[in-house]
Amino acid sequence: MSSTVVVAIDGPSGSGKSSTSRGVAARLGLRYLDTGAMFRAMTWWMLEHEIDVHDVAAVAAHAQEPDIVSGTDPSAPTISVDGTDVAEAIRGEDVTGSVSPVSAVPEVRARLLALQREAIDTGGIVVEGRDIGSVVWPQAEVKLYLTADPAARAMRRAAEEGGSDLAATEQSLLARDRIDSGRAAAPLVMADGARHIDTTPFTLDEVIDQVVELVGAAQGQV
Ligand code: DC
Repeated sequence: MSSTVVVAIDGPSGSGKSSTSRGVAARLGLRYLDTGAMFRAMTWWMLEHEIDVHDVAAVAAHAQEPDIVSGTDPSAPTISVDGTDVAEAIRGEDVTGSVSPVSAVPEVRARLLALQREAIDTGGIVVEGRDIGSVVWPQAEVKLYLTADPAARAMRRAAEEGGSDLAATEQSLLARDRIDSGRAAAPLVMADGARHIDTTPFTLDEVIDQVVELVGAAQGQV
């Protein structure tokens, strides 16, 4: 296995992207980058500095300011902003509720795109997000697009976030999908050359097995 391989995993939240990406990276000894966490970290900073997240010009004007650092160990991914560990804070409801408008601002995307490409540069990494195979790293050796039924996604997300209102979780996921898919800048789309996996009927291990096999095939080892 070449250590320079790049595996791009895109899809909506709750599709199994994060667990799959971390599992594949751990199995293959690759690094792992959660680009959603970077958009969440940017959003956390905007909220912390009392920037109105719906004011596009204000968000754009501050997009260069936060110092966002992502750790790429799949067994212990870390993220900090201006030296503060925000791994837990970025999963809170306030960040989740504001991340889509912040992610739609072109200046935010340009800033994070540069950081993402810097992290990916030497390869040997599994990268998860919405636009990795289409915009961030279209030359990735393996591109995947994961989806799952909305009810399955809501159940997974509620389990991760400790929420109990499945209908509300499903509505919030679908609302974010609409914004993420409908925005002008780098919308959520299936990239050219991406393989679609509907994870609904599979266990996590089964999905990881499928992806590991695809990576092996792309490397000419299967
Ligand atoms: O994967 P996640 O739910 O943690 O992502 C949070 C938000 O970040 C999601 O609603 C859209 C945005 N995002 C994006 O626009 N582009 C990416 N590559 C990753 C995430």
